[in-house]
Amino acid sequence: MNGLTKEQKQRVEELLSRMTLDEKIGQMNQESPSIVGGFDVPFEELIEMMTDGRISKEEFGRIMESAQQDFHEDMIREGGVGSLMVQDPVKVNELQKIAVEESRLGIPLIFGLDVIHGFRSVYPIAIAEAGSFDTDLFERTAGMAAKESRAAGVAWHFAPMVDVARDARWGRVSEGPGEDPFLGSEFARAKVRGLQNDQSSTENYVAACLKHYVGYGAAEAGRDYNTVSMAMHVFYNNYLKPFAAAVDEGAQTVMAAFNDLNGVPCTVNEFLLRKTLKESLGFPGFVVSDANAIRECVVHGIAEDDVDAGIKAAAAGMDMDMGTEIYSKHLKEAVESGKLDISVIDEAVRRILSVKMWLGLFEHPYVSEEAMHRYDTLPKEHTDLALEAAEKSIVLLKNENHVLPLKKDAKIALVGSLADSRTEIIGAWAMSWQEKDCVSIREGMEQTFENVRYFPCGGPEGDISMDEVIAAGDYGDVIVAVLGELDSMSGEASSRTDITIPGRQRELLEMLMHTGKPVVLVLMNGRPLALDWEDQFVPVIVEAWHLGIRMGDAVAHVLSGDKNPEGRLSSTFPKVSGQCPVYYNAMNTGRPGSKSKFTSRYLDIAPGPLYPFGYGLSYTEYAYSELSVTETSADCWVSVKVTNTGDAAGRETVQFYLQDVTGSLVRPVKELKGFRKISLEPGKSENVIFRLPKKDMGFYDNDGRYRLEDGLFRFYVGGSSESCQMAELRIAF
Ligand code: NOJ
Repeated sequence: MNGLTKEQKQRVEELLSRMTLDEKIGQMNQESPSIVGGFDVPFEELIEMMTDGRISKEEFGRIMESAQQDFHEDMIREGGVGSLMVQDPVKVNELQKIAVEESRLGIPLIFGLDVIHGFRSVYPIAIAEAGSFDTDLFERTAGMAAKESRAAGVAWHFAPMVDVARDARWGRVSEGPGEDPFLGSEFARAKVRGLQNDQSSTENYVAACLKHYVGYGAAEAGRDYNTVSMAMHVFYNNYLKPFAAAVDEGAQTVMAAFNDLNGVPCTVNEFLLRKTLKESLGFPGFVVSDANAIRECVVHGIAEDDVDAGIKAAAAGMDMDMGTEIYSKHLKEAVESGKLDISVIDEAVRRILSVKMWLGLFEHPYVSEEAMHRYDTLPKEHTDLALEAAEKSIVLLKNENHVLPLKKDAKIALVGSLADSRTEIIGAWAMSWQEKDCVSIREGMEQTFENVRYFPCGGPEGDISMDEVIAAGDYGDVIVAVLGELDSMSGEASSRTDITIPGRQRELLEMLMHTGKPVVLVLMNGRPLALDWEDQFVPVIVEAWHLGIRMGDAVAHVLSGDKNPEGRLSSTFPKVSGQCPVYYNAMNTGRPGSKSKFTSRYLDIAPGPLYPFGYGLSYTEYAYSELSVTETSADCWVSVKVTNTGDAAGRETVQFYLQDVTGSLVRPVKELKGFRKISLEPGKSENVIFRLPKKDMGFYDNDGRYRLEDGLFRFYVGGSSESCQMAELRIAF
């Protein structure tokens, strides 16, 4: 179990046999510091007040400084806490000391945090990084985050988030690898390897936590926390896939999702937790609830009260309670009264102790003084990696008349308040970064180009300064407008109904266009945006997402051509918000959208997305030829020749999609089955070969049975999900 040695397993059993029921339940309890005193309203209300603008972020910060935190020291001493969310290493050591030296059995705490896209060195948000299609990069950035956080005592990341997300209205699309189950699975596997596999020292690895299990990305209408209903074949073939892949890769923990799936909240869903995850997939680690989720089962109306919710969750296979203390308060009585079997508790505790053992926490519970300060100054290799990831994640969406790359001595009017920010570049869920390490777009541009002048003009919030617009037009040979979303506009609880560029920024764009100077639109955002208007009227569009600490340098390098863009879209971009959800691997209909009226389309826009999954331009071009498909008894072999036909060296993402033309269930129009990144000098070609094991050509039916069905298959290879060459083959398995 969990990669433990025989001796470690024995230690877990031996420990378990010495634990009282209270101590066992204590291991199943996760706390975060409670805020006490310092202000007159409850903490939740205070957060609301900051969110709705009644108090400023600064004011919130001041209040928090004067507040005190309760770290539950007494409870830890009594063995009543298994895990805590803390990020200060001094505090980690202090609390760990209580657990290890003052509690009866000395079981170490496991400290966990949302380290979603970096700890001290923040790299791009996941939706962006996934677009690099670079599994080696996914692994290396995760490894960097693991080392940095472990040096602060955080041995458990609530990451990777691997929710398949097809609705760009959902704010949390930013946190995961996009809409595709195959890319999502590759991302999930690589992240688990990066976080967990370098076990050369306990300082190098952490436990991964796959979340949110499962279906959270399908929240109805893209509204966060909303209900989820889906056919079981959709569940097995799409939403479960990245979780299954990452469990196979050895992920140590899983977090259950807030939502219900087909009527049963994941938190108390025995089919999902016990049957599917633990029994069918053989997941050996432990499951933690999402924050407050056990109590929310009462609000869901699936449990009568806290007691009922706690029993249902534990019985369903929920091993650790995040933040409600329901397990601590009620499970003992439930066991003693016979409502809950002790074997459920033992199983949960065995899983939790095993992960702690695997992490080496029993031998190395503390953070050394040296480690605590190891990353006070970020090592160059870490900031370089953050830059590499940022550069590889940028997607060139449009480049009319080859306006890009810009000459280093071009007079550039840099516009938009986002361009001058070192904080908005970070994106949702990042905590331990420092502003001193961040490079704003303005700073990056000034470093790379000779003549850059900044004119704020406007931003996601507030007014437009007409005077500055005129001045920008007068100054620049070209205008680079950095527009988009504040980082608070994506992430948890940040769904939007209208996913056009927010505020008055489109107006600002129109004004900039009226200056007569070419406009380069650089987008900073956490979700696919509806860019129909921009695509029609703005000559150049660069999707730069929230790229982390080195965003400014990365954007400047792409605009100057020092870096030839290679990023692709990990999620489809709609034309307008009302098209959501829109994704490439949709089910076939009997009437695919076309020009004629009685087809699957809307009256007011042409069918199809604006930019499809896998799309992205470069400063060179690639031609695909000589596509062929052959078969051996176990595999299909797909071969294609890719040629760099332009005059710049570049990296192409060669994508391979499959269509199962007929099946006993309707099949998607196309499904990604492989991708390969190749570097090509101008004029050079490479033959790219994909092997597709025939066993991977099947699909799951509604009963979760895997079916391989004979018939016609189409093999598509190309530079995006829409621009592909196609070959057919009839297969008999
Ligand atoms: C709620 C979020 O849904 C989850 O992703 C996160 O890990 C927990 N809170 C803990 O912060």
